[in-house]
Amino acid sequence: VVSNRGPLSFSLDDEGNLTSSRGGGGLVSSLSPLVRGTGATWIAAAITDADRQAADEGLIEADGFRVRSLAVDPALFRMAYDVVSNSTLWFLNHGLFDLARRPRLGRRWWEAWEGYRKVNRRFAETVAEHAEEGATVLVQDYHLFLVGAWLAQQRPDLRAVHFTHTPFTGPEDLRVLPSSVAEELLVGMTGHVACGFHARRWAANFEECCREVLGFTPRSFVSPISPDRDEIVATAQSEDCGRELERLEVLLGGRQLIARVDRIELSKNLLRGFHAFDDLLATRPEWRDKVVFAAFLYPSREALPEYLGYRQEVESLARYVNDRWATPGWQPVVLDTSDNYCRSVAALTRYDVLLVNPVRDGLNLVAKEGALVNRRHGVVALSREAGVWDELGATALELNPFDVAGTSDVLAGALAMPPDEREAHASALRKLAEARAPSSWLDDQLRQADADADAVDGGGGVPVVG
Ligand code: G6P
Repeated sequence: VVSNRGPLSFSLDDEGNLTSSRGGGGLVSSLSPLVRGTGATWIAAAITDADRQAADEGLIEADGFRVRSLAVDPALFRMAYDVVSNSTLWFLNHGLFDLARRPRLGRRWWEAWEGYRKVNRRFAETVAEHAEEGATVLVQDYHLFLVGAWLAQQRPDLRAVHFTHTPFTGPEDLRVLPSSVAEELLVGMTGHVACGFHARRWAANFEECCREVLGFTPRSFVSPISPDRDEIVATAQSEDCGRELERLEVLLGGRQLIARVDRIELSKNLLRGFHAFDDLLATRPEWRDKVVFAAFLYPSREALPEYLGYRQEVESLARYVNDRWATPGWQPVVLDTSDNYCRSVAALTRYDVLLVNPVRDGLNLVAKEGALVNRRHGVVALSREAGVWDELGATALELNPFDVAGTSDVLAGALAMPPDEREAHASALRKLAEARAPSSWLDDQLRQADADADAVDGGGGVPVVG
């Protein structure tokens, strides 16, 4: 497995010894239960100084993982990660560019692009150096689009599959990138045996981009990931979670709970979520003092000014809604940025309504996790722009994430849903969230790696979702 973030994040204890803890981010939390104990080697970038020290130790075996940390020059890494991966490819694939101003592909950007190429090359070289003859290589996400093409040259015996955890842009928006860059990215991706996505829409966009830019249809497949039900249920039943739940109950004082759990991330549409709640309180006075909107948001990518600015907007909007509606004894919005995993899971067990309203999202695991652990027949209000809509859309309440008034109406409908309807909604949703075994995602990639390329229909990708 090859990805930017690894399953273990290293730090130094008081005596200067290396210790490891769980790595951060959605990709790592979805993949870790699937990869732990399989004996696969996981190659990931060294992000902190302690990670770089871990890189010097070579292969590290801990917590059921075999991890090889890859240290690249920190300045080069930051250019690749901050400027190309997160400020360009992430924005492009989530449709986040403010085109009147961004992106601005100046000299610094072109330098960063060289950095991205070099980092991808270092990853490919490390794989080439360590992979056994004929090994299967599962390359993850937009940080590493170019690995497959270089591997194909250096180690043609390997079978490399790429999986993108974000959406993928269509050919119109791709035109923002310089032609040589767009072409190199697509060539890099199609150097893999196949490219996977969480939803049909993203695979179709990728195929269209390739048809337009490269003149052929690549092999792609669709395979949405599922959370490990046992793992999240065990967390929900843990003592720590129990304590967090008690704390939350005190805070709620018997009121209904609208919850959300997200990174502080522009694509998650946090601002419109607060505006919708504000509208709900303004247009339906009967809900004042009867409901709390708790947002469990954890800080992310704070080296980027866009994210710092966004966090400030989020915090000041939450304050505004509280200033407008709070009464002695009732705080309408609770904004928790403490990054406490158990607290977030406790909120998922307790919500009456879960708000998942991204402007665009590769999948969105929180919607499935909520459906699996919730104990109150909670309702899920879900953006039709999330990849997980393909799986949960038959039951979840539909949101157009840009329609604030519409979101407020959906929230009001969810809060007022009669108990028998709620129960039916929650149990149908749980069934949908459980429909795919967590192992299917990994199996699909392995199957793609093994598939005989000649036997594959080159015209429409390989839909493997049953
Ligand atoms: C998304 C991406 C992952 C990434 C995660 C956290 O889920 O698909 O690749 O790891 O966000 O972002 P970060 O920049 O902190 O790794």
